[in-house]
Amino acid sequence: MSDHKVLFEITEAHLNTGLRGFPVGTVRTSRVDPLEGVSYVGYPIEDLAYLDPEAVVYLLFHKDLPTDAQLAEFKADLAARSKVDPHVLEMLGRLPREGHPMEWLIAGLVLLGMTGKVGDWREDALNLVARTPTLIANVFRLRSGWGDPIESRPELGLVENMVHQMGVPGADPDRLRQLLRVFYVLHMDHGGGNLSTFTGKAVASAHTDVYASIAAAMAGLYGPLHGRANQECLNFVRSVGSTDPVVIEQFCRDTLARGGKIYGFGHAVLRAEDPRAKIQYELGQKLYPDDPLFQTALAMRTVAVKVLKENPKVSNPYPNVDAVSGTLLNASGLTDSDYYTVLFGFSRIAGICAQIVDERTVFRGGRGVPIYRCKYLAENQEPRRLEK
Ligand code: MLT
Repeated sequence: MSDHKVLFEITEAHLNTGLRGFPVGTVRTSRVDPLEGVSYVGYPIEDLAYLDPEAVVYLLFHKDLPTDAQLAEFKADLAARSKVDPHVLEMLGRLPREGHPMEWLIAGLVLLGMTGKVGDWREDALNLVARTPTLIANVFRLRSGWGDPIESRPELGLVENMVHQMGVPGADPDRLRQLLRVFYVLHMDHGGGNLSTFTGKAVASAHTDVYASIAAAMAGLYGPLHGRANQECLNFVRSVGSTDPVVIEQFCRDTLARGGKIYGFGHAVLRAEDPRAKIQYELGQKLYPDDPLFQTALAMRTVAVKVLKENPKVSNPYPNVDAVSGTLLNASGLTDSDYYTVLFGFSRIAGICAQIVDERTVFRGGRGVPIYRCKYLAENQEPRRLEK
């Protein structure tokens, strides 16, 4: 009998439940507590939300926050890694407009890999993080037809350079930068088992390169039950059409009565309000307090919870990271919700890259985690023979 501690007992009732709650590995970048929410290398997200995004990227890769000198050196290193092969943007611009922005992002990631991978986990991971501002900005700019690519200025910083290259028509760039800096930190990492992170690590376990592994991860994030929920959330808030709590409550009740979903509430692990939502509500009251859609989302913070709590089967009636993010992006001038998951991806790529580097080069004495190969119990597979 092994002297290892039993972590989890799997019964038949756990099969085909999406691995929900199964401990399958360890993670060194973040932890998700059901009540406290996410912390990055021990720091609660509320301590990190307003730091330089590069400082938090450094934290996930180095497992310590940088000194001022280390941060300056890291920013310079990312800037030096940021050049994107011109062919990537040429080919990106020729993609069909009918494609969803996340499909553009996935294609762009594969193009970045084709033209820039070097085959070293850490180098490719840091190069990719450094090149995402140009890729993300041009998914917006080229697909929206806002104009030709704008020259990259990596010295501005990851988020600032992305906003610079986006050149969003009619947006207030200062408030957009403030919003996206916080947005970037909040969405970077969320434990080891969220679908996009798990997928990226699983594909990388076959020694597929970082770029293609992250493309696979973004395919997972593209799902409406995962990263695309922020787009669905804004569309839901838009459909409410009122800031009046009485009207909002009735709308929520009618939605549930017809079997619909109130997007932005609930979570597989969390059992309290997501601190990432709390930070966004506070930021919205600072940046866009008079925006009607934000006011609707803010009212839902209490009204939707009240309605959802009435159902004893609802394990978590509270807001998650997506509950208000779309209304803030919309208020900032990014009014096409199709693009919102691309911004989630911009940030999450950093966290998944850090976890891939850990799994490929740190775990098991640096030998890395073996190729993922879980077990499925055969069903309906009784032996039989083909009659001759
Ligand atoms: C995330 O940040 O990835 C979402 O909250 C979903 C999750 O954690 O599974």
